[in-house]
Amino acid sequence: MTTRLVRKAIFPAAGLGTRFLPVTKAQPKEMLPLVDKPTIQYGVEEAIASGIEQVIMVTGGGKRAIVDHFDRSLELEHYLEERGRSDLLHILAEVDALSNELVITYIQQKEPRGLGHAVWTARLLVEGEACAVLLADDVILNDGEPCLKQLIDAHRKTGATVLAVRRVPRNEVSRYGIIATAGAKNGIYEVTDVVEKPSLEDAPSDLAALGRYVILPAVFDELEKGEPGAGKEIQLVDAIKRTIGSQPVVGIEFEGDYYDTGTVPGYLRANLTLAMKREGLREELVPLLQELLETSAEGSAPRGL
Ligand code: UTP
Repeated sequence: MTTRLVRKAIFPAAGLGTRFLPVTKAQPKEMLPLVDKPTIQYGVEEAIASGIEQVIMVTGGGKRAIVDHFDRSLELEHYLEERGRSDLLHILAEVDALSNELVITYIQQKEPRGLGHAVWTARLLVEGEACAVLLADDVILNDGEPCLKQLIDAHRKTGATVLAVRRVPRNEVSRYGIIATAGAKNGIYEVTDVVEKPSLEDAPSDLAALGRYVILPAVFDELEKGEPGAGKEIQLVDAIKRTIGSQPVVGIEFEGDYYDTGTVPGYLRANLTLAMKREGLREELVPLLQELLETSAEGSAPRGL
């Protein structure tokens, strides 16, 4: 049996999702759908396609729906079987297959003290290995190599902590962690600094670190110190930054379509884009969008809305 280099993936999912209130008052943000699939399921599918063997979900209060989603629903299966709905049973079987392909472990972050703290909560389950971190908000779709697989390959080549980076418009740098780099070799950037949410003037580049990481055990040692950063929260990027110099840290410009579903505009854009790619929905949406464009140009509300 071959031992995989990166076997475990942490999904921090204990945040309060305040940007989506009121829908997130009693429902996890990670369960909001892109068309008809929760964002966290896209992430788990990516982890499996990247060779991950164990997913560690960091959850908090009010996140029961995530556990239920990856569990079987015998009642629902029975209901659909009785009605001969093999088409819908097939969809349930697909979700069930995910939790058969890897082990899903749940751990509680008792207080939402930041992304870094959520990752640190999983430390004992990681057992001193390099591991992946995926943020369900950042959905990255690719017909070729999944984004996480690209990171794991870069880790295999370099032995480094790996960040998934993408160029962003200069006027948006203050929304992201921005890397400073000494340059790239074979598409792999050596990271010399990471600046969390810099002003336009202070941004060392336009390369933003997005929600996929492979982290070395040394990052956990830094998280252990519990030093709060922006928003008084314990930040993952700060801990990675503190390992620079003693540990290798690289970034790769990943290939794939990136959807930031963590904000309402980004979420709506992602839903619309994916719905337009779906046969059966596109045909419904095209006339509606045309009508919306025409009526908004005329300044009146569209018919039927
Ligand atoms: P976000 O900042 O995007 O999520 O964190 P949030 O805090 O839930 O959302 P807002 O800002 O209030 O709208 C990125 C990921 O890290 C997790 C979140 O669940 C999300 O998946 N997270 C964040 C934790 O698990 N614990 C935390 O303490 C903070």
